[in-house]
Amino acid sequence: MKYAFVLTAIAAMASKVAAVGVSGTPEGFASSATGGGSATPVYPSSTDELVSYLGDSEARVIVLSKTFDFTDTEGTTTTTGCQPWGTGSGCQVAINKDDWCTNYQPDAATTSVTYNKAGELGITVGSNKSLIGEGSKGTIKGRGLRMVSGAKNIIIQNIAVTDINPQYVWGGDAITINEADLIWVDHVTTARIGRQHYVLGTEADNRVSLTNNYINGESDWSATCDGHHYWNVYLDGSSDKVTFKGNYLYKTSGRAPKVQSNTYLHAVNNYWDENSNHAFEIGSGGYVLAEGNYFSNVNEVLESSSFEGALFAADSDSSTCSSSIGRSCVANVNGGTLTGTSSDVLSNLSGETLPDADKASTDPAGSAGQGNL
Ligand SMILES: *[C@@H]1O[C@H](CO)[C@@H](O)[C@H](O)[C@H]1NC(C)=O
Ligand SMILES: *[C@@H]1O[C@H](CO)[C@@H](O)[C@H](O)[C@H]1NC(C)=O
Repeated sequence: MKYAFVLTAIAAMASKVAAVGVSGTPEGFASSATGGGSATPVYPSSTDELVSYLGDSEARVIVLSKTFDFTDTEGTTTTTGCQPWGTGSGCQVAINKDDWCTNYQPDAATTSVTYNKAGELGITVGSNKSLIGEGSKGTIKGRGLRMVSGAKNIIIQNIAVTDINPQYVWGGDAITINEADLIWVDHVTTARIGRQHYVLGTEADNRVSLTNNYINGESDWSATCDGHHYWNVYLDGSSDKVTFKGNYLYKTSGRAPKVQSNTYLHAVNNYWDENSNHAFEIGSGGYVLAEGNYFSNVNEVLESSSFEGALFAADSDSSTCSSSIGRSCVANVNGGTLTGTSSDVLSNLSGETLPDADKASTDPAGSAGQGNL
């Protein structure tokens, strides 16, 4: 009798669990990412268990149903930092990481810094993982995620990554991708981060899709000392193809995104809202197709002074794209300085499977981020 009851309970749990999984399929360059596939979902209960599931060599579907708070897991460090952006209470302070202050900011004022050590280096995520959140409940606080050193085929969906030493530059990044392939990050909210919300490092990061994410730059500490976060999306890498679609960038002030080295970026249907300095920075080796994006209250959409890359972007629909990408490119709205007619960009993207583009809109303000699947 008791035994039958247990079996029934297990069956009920199994049917509930079977419904859990990644929602939808990736668009763009990482469209063949499958993550943990049909692996039986696991529900970590502690920060240690989460680290273990993410880092082991099993294909896994890992479901977060609460906040995993790493703020105090490794204690604090107190040391001397510097204040290159000013000494006001709204300015970020830099940690002297790898002697950065000593070497690059010798004239900056110094000050004592106390930060949480766990934030400095994100949690390693192995290959073949899906990391998904339940409703609006899955949050990782105080530490980011790293997909590096050959990690391949990872999906991160519907979680928040928050509060990584936000007052300190070099205090930690939220999402790091370096020497990886087939990474899909979707409906993720990042907020109050010390350094980059997203950083694709100098190694080849191959195929990456960043879609429907909410990059919330609102912070009490900023390198521009104005409540807008400067370090947002840094796309470096020796061979990177990045789809950036449907994202909402709120209260940023720089590197939103910065693109360089050898990176193709297809930026489509994103919404930038309130940027106090610049959005796009396109350095040498950045090849950017920007279409169907909407800009609202952005000081400088493309930083003209640093522009050394290649750009195709228009403020009216352009049939010039048809011969390379099979359809017209869609107009950006309020794109300002973000204009370009680079045929290199179109020839680079020729033969790639690009997602469709809708008309530019402010929709991502309501559809991007955690809890909006
Ligand atoms: C990931 O899954 C693929 C396909 O099953 C497999 O070939 C590969 O070895 C896995 N990677 C790791 C690191 O387990
Ligand atoms: C993109 O196009 C430019 C101009 O044709 C070319 O120099 C560059 O090598 C291309 N990038 C890649 C990765 O093929």
